[in-house]
Amino acid sequence: LDNGLMRTPPMGWLAWERFRCDTDCEHDPKNCISENLFIDMADRLSEDGWKELGYVYVNIDDCWSSMERDEQGRLQPDPKRFPGGIHKLTRYMHDRGLKLGIYGDMGKHTCGGYPGTPMEKIEIDAFTFADWEVDMLKYDGCWSNATEQEQGYPLMSKALNATGRPIGYSCSWPAYQGGLPPKVNYTQLGEICNLWRNYGDIQDSWDSVLNVIDWFSKNQDVLIPAAGPGQWNDPDMLIIGNFGLSMDQSRAQMALWAIMAAPLFMSTDLRTISSGARSILQNKIVISINQDPMGVQGRRILKEKNGIEVFWRPLSSNASALVIFSRRNDMPYRYQTSLSKLNYTTGSYKIYDVFTDKTMMLKDSTDFVVSVNPTGVVMWYVSAPAKRNFLQFYKGGKLQ
Ligand code: DGJ
Repeated sequence: LDNGLMRTPPMGWLAWERFRCDTDCEHDPKNCISENLFIDMADRLSEDGWKELGYVYVNIDDCWSSMERDEQGRLQPDPKRFPGGIHKLTRYMHDRGLKLGIYGDMGKHTCGGYPGTPMEKIEIDAFTFADWEVDMLKYDGCWSNATEQEQGYPLMSKALNATGRPIGYSCSWPAYQGGLPPKVNYTQLGEICNLWRNYGDIQDSWDSVLNVIDWFSKNQDVLIPAAGPGQWNDPDMLIIGNFGLSMDQSRAQMALWAIMAAPLFMSTDLRTISSGARSILQNKIVISINQDPMGVQGRRILKEKNGIEVFWRPLSSNASALVIFSRRNDMPYRYQTSLSKLNYTTGSYKIYDVFTDKTMMLKDSTDFVVSVNPTGVVMWYVSAPAKRNFLQFYKGGKLQ
């Protein structure tokens, strides 16, 4: 969507995977969906170095609203859990250089059973969100059918635009239509949405991450052309920092989400996150790969029978990223290859290993061995091939 927003994949925090529909503030005040939770996360984002890295969206998901609209037919937050109202929250975010995202649903109800935003409510709800100075909307699809979605998702896009407020627009539409053409029209999605969920919900397990990676890799030829500045495929939240992934698996999720040019929405408790998980999520080079301005989504280029897969993403300045991924469960695997076997052209390349912080030079033809941990990755930032720089030899009009 060409609304000037999200020219690189959006980054931030989203409540759903970790905090779900916990509304029991009486017994679980720290974790329930309430203004306190979003304020706590905003404080962490702005005080613990996240914001500076680009993690600026603080996004509300399902279960935030009251069961009833107000007298004027507007959505309203649950008064007990959000006593200050949504506008107070957006101000809180904006005062700290953060942004607030909200959640709605194309059906009569949200997936969690709260009031939805069906066709006839689209205009009033878009207006309400803009009135609250909200910065992003995730528009879910529970309780709506294909015909309604076909009208509703474009209509919401128009309605948001008509408010005059730039609001990032995340569409769950393709996820409700199987994610593939002909049911899903990626050209149209790119015109009306900034990002879209293509596939099912991620859960807190390695199996779930693998399942997402498999689907996105299998369908990459359809998905890659759909992505670019302002329009992103969304394989769902980062679950790093929770209970389901080892450190190696966490690095794998981070690396592959960077290759896929995926939105980076963490869904974890930033108040208690371990330093290991934090350093993976805060890895500057992985983030810069994810945020590459060219915005080309990467692809799986090799799937070996031994459980090793290689992913590649072209980056600006003729650089690229490589991920060597192991699905194995036995021991670190010594994978032997060369850059020319990975489609690199003749030349000498500077390699930076983003997780070990080591640099080396590598010629395209040189065989090398990398050790890849079980369910882990090795990720490289590969600089443009070092050329014999003509100017180096031709200074001041004289050959040196
Ligand atoms: C389905 C979505 O895919 C999830 O991300 C989450 O928003 C839930 N609905 C909320 O009910």
